[in-house]
Amino acid sequence: MKRVHAALLFLSFCLTSCEVPSAGAVPQEDLVDTKCLLNKYTHRSCSKVFCQPWEKCVDGTCTCKLPYQCPKNGTSVCSTDGKSYPTYCHLKSYGCLNRRAKFLKNGICTAEGKFSVTLNFGNTDSEGIVKVKLVGQDKEMFICKNNWGMVEANVACYDSGFPQGALNTAKWIHSSGDTSNTECLQVRCQGFETTLAECSFSKRRFLGQQEVATVLCYTPDADLQAHESFQCVNGKPIPLGRACDGVNDCGDQSDELCCRGCQEGSFLCKSGVCIPNQHRCNGEVDCITGEDEIGCAESHEGRAPATPLSRSFQDGLLHSGVEHPEVPEETEILTAAMDTERKWIKSLLPKISCGIKRPTHTRRKRIVGGKPAQTGDFPWQVAIKEEGKIKCGGIYIGGCWILTAAHCVRPSRAHHYQIWTSLIDWIQLNSGIGVQKVERIIIHEGYNGTTYQNDIALIEMKKHLKQEECVFANSIPACVPWSPYLFQPKDSCIISGWGREKDNQKVYSLRWGEVNLISNCSQYYPNRYYEKEMECAGTTDGSIDACKGDSGGPLVCTNANNVTYVWGIVSWGENCGQPEFPGVYTKVANYFDWISYHVGRALISQYNV
Ligand code: ARG
Repeated sequence: MKRVHAALLFLSFCLTSCEVPSAGAVPQEDLVDTKCLLNKYTHRSCSKVFCQPWEKCVDGTCTCKLPYQCPKNGTSVCSTDGKSYPTYCHLKSYGCLNRRAKFLKNGICTAEGKFSVTLNFGNTDSEGIVKVKLVGQDKEMFICKNNWGMVEANVACYDSGFPQGALNTAKWIHSSGDTSNTECLQVRCQGFETTLAECSFSKRRFLGQQEVATVLCYTPDADLQAHESFQCVNGKPIPLGRACDGVNDCGDQSDELCCRGCQEGSFLCKSGVCIPNQHRCNGEVDCITGEDEIGCAESHEGRAPATPLSRSFQDGLLHSGVEHPEVPEETEILTAAMDTERKWIKSLLPKISCGIKRPTHTRRKRIVGGKPAQTGDFPWQVAIKEEGKIKCGGIYIGGCWILTAAHCVRPSRAHHYQIWTSLIDWIQLNSGIGVQKVERIIIHEGYNGTTYQNDIALIEMKKHLKQEECVFANSIPACVPWSPYLFQPKDSCIISGWGREKDNQKVYSLRWGEVNLISNCSQYYPNRYYEKEMECAGTTDGSIDACKGDSGGPLVCTNANNVTYVWGIVSWGENCGQPEFPGVYTKVANYFDWISYHVGRALISQYNV
């Protein structure tokens, strides 16, 4: 085979000035939610995104897991420090903690050499043409321009010692016909990688006028025109036109987390996050609200399980062949995508089951106004009885735990209460009812009986004699929301309870009604409504509302995947059923950490564990 030397002198390139803003016509200010930006959300903000399998969510931030918290299954990997780790998760956890251990290759370490990334022919160290030497290969190779984007450029910059990533995937214009290289490496990354070694590589033949990948890495001292730019949380500016386009230009994802809308080619999650269209229906839930995997053709769920490596290989094939048909046939896959391994590890993490009803009794007639409930409709609903009367409602959240309103219970009276599960009618008792005694009551330390702030309490039920756990035949826990972005104003949710009717009529049978979440509630309750801790819900005509006796009971919302969350606890309201005075609920999402502190993280954490 003929070998020719790279004749780079004939290539002209521009690193900073030739960037053409894509789809620049849309005024991007409209897409960005500026109030949300104040929260400085990043890829580690677990109220907006899922944590990586080597991280867990603590107080709203994804923090590094300790390696032993990783699933044991998996294949070993080799790190840049020459150490082998039992799984990719273990290595990522070490890397997350000390940043020294970086992925080198799949399999245990042998003496196969290094992985390196270099930036060449630039005016400074922070820019140039990217060359990569793969493990086990003896020569450096160019990266194909094809498929080279900000995600890949960011990772290349991390490899080159620029923690804020790339400023630009600067463009190369290939002016001469002299293409002396016969092959280039095509790289694909996902955005969680800390080195290009984790991305997938395939070899491609240069076809005629081939451009190669270049990058300009961001250095804080670089003087840039701040004009019309979006400020990433990591300090890097990006063109405003690149915010809310589904592409993680910032590297910390901060340009995609506070969006009212998304640019073409990307999908808006209800939680205000833009994800690339390719992430829709890819078999992995990206939106915390779950709707990116809704209404997809079956194909993904049906994918046959295989060993991680062969899965990676399949995935690589899929990526180069199916998703990007423009890629010519003569690509040779060189390294497996660690993304597949990451997904696999994710599937091994512990899962809890909550918020999913048994398939019976899902059909309900939709009639406006309180409607009688049937057995099994509200398997998380409990009644708190005191001296034979229903005092309040409550919500079963798993284990021996009931969530209720602080104003409903007093710790000193714990032995006076009974928790009734699976109850429908308290005159004509149905079958399957459970009656539990109370072990202890925990009132939120910030509860204020005058303002109703922090109107939340936990009831731990007594285990029956000789029992290790609380068991209730017909109860199913409602899920505890971990993020205030799971549901939005105008979403339709359901309240239920044995509380009074509007005319103060007594109710013996459990009733329910549909209400909508209401924003800007301080307009109805000036100086009495606390946005962060409370939630308002009702209907425009006020015909559906909670009332006296419903307190402590659930306001539940069901997401795109039919999973039901306890979004609110019936707390207070001026009168009942008046449109100008909606019902006020304790916003449960605000108390996730408080609840998990008392009941244990494992009991209520569905994700991010
Ligand atoms: N505090 C009441 C109770 O103890 C609940 C009131 C709810 N009122 C309303 N209009 N949503 O039962």
